[in-house]
Amino acid sequence: MPFGVAVIGAGIVGGGVVKTLLEKRDRLGAASGADIRLTHVCEINEANLREFDLKGVTVTKDAASLNSAPDVRVVCELIGGIEPAKTFILNALNAGKNVVTANKMLLAHHGPELTEAAVKNGVELRFEAAVAGGIPIIKALREGLAANRIEFIYGILNGTCNYILSRMTYEGLDFETALEQAQERGFAETPPDLDVLGHDTAHKCQIIASLCYSTKVDIDAIPVEGITSITHADVEYARQLGYLIKLLAIVRDAGGEMECRVHPALVPETHLLASVRNEFNAIYVQGDIADATLYYGRGAGRMPTASAVTADILDIARRGNSPAPAPFMYSASRKIRDIGLLEGAYYLRLTTRDLPGVFGKVGTILGNHGVSIASCFQKDPHGQDSVHMIIMTHRSRESAVRAALKEIDAMEFIAEPSHLLRVIEG
Ligand code: HSE
Repeated sequence: MPFGVAVIGAGIVGGGVVKTLLEKRDRLGAASGADIRLTHVCEINEANLREFDLKGVTVTKDAASLNSAPDVRVVCELIGGIEPAKTFILNALNAGKNVVTANKMLLAHHGPELTEAAVKNGVELRFEAAVAGGIPIIKALREGLAANRIEFIYGILNGTCNYILSRMTYEGLDFETALEQAQERGFAETPPDLDVLGHDTAHKCQIIASLCYSTKVDIDAIPVEGITSITHADVEYARQLGYLIKLLAIVRDAGGEMECRVHPALVPETHLLASVRNEFNAIYVQGDIADATLYYGRGAGRMPTASAVTADILDIARRGNSPAPAPFMYSASRKIRDIGLLEGAYYLRLTTRDLPGVFGKVGTILGNHGVSIASCFQKDPHGQDSVHMIIMTHRSRESAVRAALKEIDAMEFIAEPSHLLRVIEG
């Protein structure tokens, strides 16, 4: 009997999976030893199906019908969003179907519930495509690095943000133009707020943290900052200081706790992640025995994401009739460390009136909070009476830096709220 695959949603990613299953049957058969066949496509928009020759494939608008089809072994949910995707997945799992999904938002919000349903029904829930598209990072963490304690991970996980920041850095584009280009190129979410406010990265960060530390991670507890407050001036100042600005997902072992956060950060231009440009993603993983490994590739787009979905289908097909392996379980319990306890160097952009004594007052306030200045310079970006004061601190505690900034921002010489960016260590 063929190994039947049903695809729900033949949009950008789902269409890529349909194409792959139709065009690569020989390769998939050779790689898995199974006769992997696209048997069903569930799609409400018929226009999405026009490009395919679906002879012999059942086309339906009724997702529930897939669950009673005996030849369907895997249901691929590729519509995204919370509902009806969650209901479709739970129904498929409860009907004894393996499920493959690319749905990062759903996993980040309901991963434990979906995993429980898979375990209860003795089937698999796989999600390679949910994080970093074509990069097999889930497999690397679950299998290749399984013997490691993951010390930390830095991830560039959102193609749209990396594209925008790269265009601002290398082409001098402003934020809006770069975002429009990302939308035209088809990798931005709808709406793009999910990208630029950091939530898409947070969903992926949550999945990675759950996987690394086998723990439930409350998506709402992850500190998230997007890139909307990054100005062209910040990009330029950072470069002058020898850094690039990247939106990072950071996960780190912090003893019984963990760091799990998303924010723009200054990355030294000598760091491997600094060379990751445009819509590309990369994940830098520090394991305790493998040491540093780096994974790079396309984190979005039709065929790269289809590559990841198909790899999951292949893994399930290879298993044949043997029992589903244990999923990553939420067996441990780790809290996300309070970000105020973070220690590192900080980039501060103050906008001040250009008056005598301002530097001295700022230095005194920082000093009173135990924050030591590593370097500073002043720029006049506006040709007006306010200037930018750029300060790099020595290693400091974030709560102290924030307390100092609060005090500084209350001073009469401050023209606009100050801006803080964290600096990652090489
Ligand atoms: N909007 C996402 C990105 C798509 O830009 O990376 C892939 O998850």
